[in-house]
Amino acid sequence: MSDLSLFELSGRKALVTGGAVGIGRGCALALARAGADVAVVDRDAAAGSQTAQEIQALGVQSLFVACDVTDKTQVQAMVDQVVAKFGRLDVAVNNAGIAILGADEELDQAAWDQVVAVNLTGAFLCAQAEAQQMIRQSPTGGKIINIASMSATIANCNASYDASKAGVVHMTKTLAAEWGRFNINVNCISPSYVLTPMHASTPLVVRERIRQLTPLGHVQRPEDLHGAVIFLASAAADYVTGLDLMVDGGHTLNAWLTPLSRAVPPRVSPEEETVQLKHDLQVLGWPCDAEGINPEVHPEIAEAFKAAFGVKE
Ligand SMILES: NC(=O)c1ccc[n+]([C@@H]2O[C@H](COP(=O)([O-])OP(=O)(O)OC[C@H]3O[C@@H](n4cnc5c(N)ncnc54)[C@H](O)[C@@H]3O)[C@@H](O)[C@H]2O)c1
Repeated sequence: MSDLSLFELSGRKALVTGGAVGIGRGCALALARAGADVAVVDRDAAAGSQTAQEIQALGVQSLFVACDVTDKTQVQAMVDQVVAKFGRLDVAVNNAGIAILGADEELDQAAWDQVVAVNLTGAFLCAQAEAQQMIRQSPTGGKIINIASMSATIANCNASYDASKAGVVHMTKTLAAEWGRFNINVNCISPSYVLTPMHASTPLVVRERIRQLTPLGHVQRPEDLHGAVIFLASAAADYVTGLDLMVDGGHTLNAWLTPLSRAVPPRVSPEEETVQLKHDLQVLGWPCDAEGINPEVHPEIAEAFKAAFGVKE
């Protein structure tokens, strides 16, 4: 038997929170293509149902579950609904997350509370309910994968976002230490800057700066995370726990000079970078231009990037 069968997910039962669009949709499709049945969990019923249909079209089972991850009762009901459909839960990707950027010296407490509630408390509530199910399935356990961010490691966005993601990384390590005895692996993935609806307002000049600062030479797409999520969901990662897997094209290497002398062209063209972004914006019904830009979506995020790079338009 080939060692490649370690990555096989046929028969595994998975859920992905925030799975309607963006990174979550990418993870859900990747798990499904590797053979898993995948539940799409999101607060956006229209987009989430569409992603669940896409997954079914791949020949595996899927369902959409409406859930706000900040609500413990909804989270428990969500896990119950997934288990009622699939019979068990083997893999859970806790991806739902938001950013509310702005100057920290003026930030509303409500904005801080909301970001922490979704990114950190939401990930904990989901992990807890998922782990309870996985413990009931003992000794088979399961795989919990939290989507953190490079912002956990570098000071990147603002305090609420960066601190919530640093919390996700450390929570991952603590839960990994606690739940190893149940054969539950808890890991997280830290992307860099990914072209999803979260970043639909970012102007081209900012994307170009990010390319220049990324040794692998293209802006990250949801697809660039597929291998990492399949690995951590699979038997290939049976002895891996508490890991923060940085998937960033080398962005956080912080190589000031090296990328500028890059001789090899990137594997992905600027047009290919935006394929999933444009798909997601269409699903959400948010119009965009040929570059996948809609200045109305999250203008404050785009402003933060422009300010960081000193971009004037
Ligand atoms: N895009 C990036 O550059 C980037 C980089 C690093 C980490 N991340 C993280 O990856 C995750 C996904 O980001 P994305 O860029 O795909 O975001 P996105 O805004 O494009 O999509 C987020 C999805 O989560 C859902 N969601 C938001 N709040 C929810 C809640 N309370 N309950 C249930 N669903 C909820 C949304 O409806 C949406 O479908 C987030 O945790 C984000 O912080 C993103």
